Amino acid sequence: MPFLRRFAVVMVGLSTSCRVGASNPHTPPPDLTFAQISSETGEDPHSYARPSQVVVRHLGLEWIVSFEERRLIGSATLHVERLDASAPLRLDSRSLDIEAVETASLGKSADSRGDLRLAEIERPWIATTWGRGARDPILGEPLEIVLPAGADLVRIRYRTVPDATGLQWLSPEQTAEGTDPFLYSQSQAIHARAWIPCQDSPGVRTTYDAVVRVPHPPGAEDRVALMSAQATGGDGQGEHHFAMPQPVPAYLVALAVGRLEFEALGERSGVWAEPSVRSAAVAEFGDIERMMSVTESLYGPYRWDRYDVLVLPPAFPFGGMENPRLTFVTPTILAGDRSLVSLVAHELAHSWSGNLVTNTTWEDLWLNEGFTVYIERRIMEALYGPGRAEMEAVLGRQDLDDELSALARPGDARLHVDLSGRDPDEGMSDVAYEKGALFLRELEQSYGREVFDPFVRRWFDEHAFTSVDSKEFEAFLHSELVEVASPVEGARAARPGAWIHEVGVPEGAPQPRSDAFEVVDAALADLSREGGVEALSTEGWTPHQWLHLLRGLPADLPVSTLAALDERFSLTASRNYEILAQWLEVGVTRGYLAVDERLEQFLRMVGRRKFLLPLYDALLRADRRDDALRIYREARSGYHPITQHSLDLQLEE
Ligand code: BES
Ligand code: ZN
Repeated sequence: MPFLRRFAVVMVGLSTSCRVGASNPHTPPPDLTFAQISSETGEDPHSYARPSQVVVRHLGLEWIVSFEERRLIGSATLHVERLDASAPLRLDSRSLDIEAVETASLGKSADSRGDLRLAEIERPWIATTWGRGARDPILGEPLEIVLPAGADLVRIRYRTVPDATGLQWLSPEQTAEGTDPFLYSQSQAIHARAWIPCQDSPGVRTTYDAVVRVPHPPGAEDRVALMSAQATGGDGQGEHHFAMPQPVPAYLVALAVGRLEFEALGERSGVWAEPSVRSAAVAEFGDIERMMSVTESLYGPYRWDRYDVLVLPPAFPFGGMENPRLTFVTPTILAGDRSLVSLVAHELAHSWSGNLVTNTTWEDLWLNEGFTVYIERRIMEALYGPGRAEMEAVLGRQDLDDELSALARPGDARLHVDLSGRDPDEGMSDVAYEKGALFLRELEQSYGREVFDPFVRRWFDEHAFTSVDSKEFEAFLHSELVEVASPVEGARAARPGAWIHEVGVPEGAPQPRSDAFEVVDAALADLSREGGVEALSTEGWTPHQWLHLLRGLPADLPVSTLAALDERFSLTASRNYEILAQWLEVGVTRGYLAVDERLEQFLRMVGRRKFLLPLYDALLRADRRDDALRIYREARSGYHPITQHSLDLQLEE
C-alpha cells in the first residue's frame, strides 16, 4: 500500500455557522460539532479530492489583492457535478483562512461555461457544514463540505496567508523598476491549494473565470493584473475580469500583478514585462511566431488562442512555467543573443504536451516534461538547425548522467516514479525531462519521422483536454505504432517496459553528438599546457560551446589558469546567466576567490532554484558553510517559498 494512503482518521471541527473574520486557519470554529474527516488520498497520492464522487467543473474566483497584508481576500465559487449524490465535496487546501462555506443551486438554465461570471452570481446562499482534516506537511489539509440535496454551487469565502506557498509577494526593491510591489503565483505541482480551495490534482480539469481587484492609488495606473486566461474587461479602475473557456488542471491557474507593459510580437503573441525590461524581452523573443507555426505544422493547431510571455522579476524560482496563454519566465534568459530561447520553445511546447494532454498524477511527470523536451528540440532544430539542437541534446544528456549518478533513490531513475509520501517538488529530476526525451528520440529513430510525427500528433488529438498516465501511453504506443508500423531497416522495436519501468538508460539508447563540442573538447585538451589560455582559439564560439568548455574544465586546473581565462574572456562579468552560473560554480569549487563578489550579488538577486542549489552546494563542498549560511540568512526572505524550502533542507545544520 502506498505510504501516502493514510488511514489516520482525524477529529476535526465542523461548523454550520458562518465564520467571519477568523484569523487562524488551524483553530476550529467555536460552535462546532465533531465529525470524522479521513486523511486518505484518492487515486492521486497528492490530492485529497475524490473526483469520482463529486467533481469541480468550473471555478469562479474573486479577490481583492492586498499588498499591505500580503493576502488575496475574496471567494472561490465552485460549480460541481455530483456523481454520487450522497457524497460530500472534498477539496485540497493549505493554510487558507476560511471564513464561510455556503451552497446554492445553479439551476438548469444557467451555463457556467458561457458568459456567466460565477464569481458574481446572485443566489440565496445557505451556510453549510464543513470541516478540515489534520494538516499534512506536504499535502496541506483536506477540506470536506457537506452538500444538501440539489446543491451544485459552493462558495468559499477565504483569504490566503502571507506566506502561502503558491504565491510570492515582492517588495518594490525586488523588481526592475523599484517603484511598485509585485505578486505572482506558481502552482505546479501542488501549490494551487495554497491560494485556491480546489481539487488540486492534474487529473481534474475545470474552466474558470475571475474578478481581480488591485489597489489603484494615484501614480500606479499602469499596475495590471494578468491571469492564464482571456482578459475579458474591467473597469479601468483596478478591476480586471478573466475567463478561461478551456478546461485546465488547477496547477495551470495563474495570476500576476505588477507594473507591466505589453508589446505585441505578432498577431497572436506578445510580451508583458516591466517597462525597463520590455524592449530587451521583445528583441529576445522575436522568434515566437515562427516557433508557433513550426509546432503547429508538426502537432496540430495551437488551441489556446494567444501565446504571451510574462517576464517576471528575478526571484522567480523556475526558468519558465507554461501557464496557458501566458508563459511565465525568469529574466535570466534575456541574454541579448537569443541563445537561451530553448526555454521559450519548451514552455510553448507544453501547449500540447502538458496543457492539452496532461499527466494524471505527478508520478508520470515524464508525459509532460519528457514529451516537452523532445518537442522543444524539434522546434530548435527547425528554427536554428540540427547543430543547435544537438548541442542542447548533449548538454541535456550530461545533466541526465549527473542526475543519475547523484540520485538518492535508485527507483527515481524510472520514468514512472513512486512519489507516495513524497513532496513532488523534491521528487522532480532530470529523469522525467531527459530520459523521457531520449525515449521518444529512440522511437523517432526506430520508426522514422514520417511515421512517428503523425503518431505523436494523434496522441495529442485523441487525448486533447484530458489527463493520461503511462499505462495509457503504453497501450496507445502498442496499438498505434508497434502493431501498425515496423522499425526502419536495422532499427530496434519499441521497448516501453525498459524505458518506463526500469531504472537508468537502456543499453543502446540514442547518443547525442555535437561537432561543435568536439572542437571544444580539443581545445580543452590543450588548456592545461603552458600558455594554454593564450593559445585558446574561441573565435565564433556560441554560448553553448562556452558552457561545454566550463563544464569540462579539468579538475586539477590551477587557479592561475582560471584567473587567466577570466582575464582574457571576462567570465565573471558575463551577462549570460547560464555561463555566469556555471563559471561561478567552477570558481567556488576550485577556490578562485575573485568570483566571490559577483557570487554574492547573484545569490542575493536571483531566485532560480536551478542556479541556487548548485551554487550553495558548491560553497558547502568548498568547506564554506559559514559563507553559505551568512548569505542565505540575508537572502532568504527574498526567495520564493519553494526555493526557501529546498534551501532550508539543503543547508540544514
Ligand atoms: N513545468 C515546468 C516547471 C515545473 C515543473 C514547476 C515541475 C514545478 C514542478 C517548466 O515547464 C519547466 O520545465 N521549466 C524548466 C525549464 C525547461 C527549459 C527545462 C525550468 O524552470 O528550469
Ligand atoms: Zn517543462
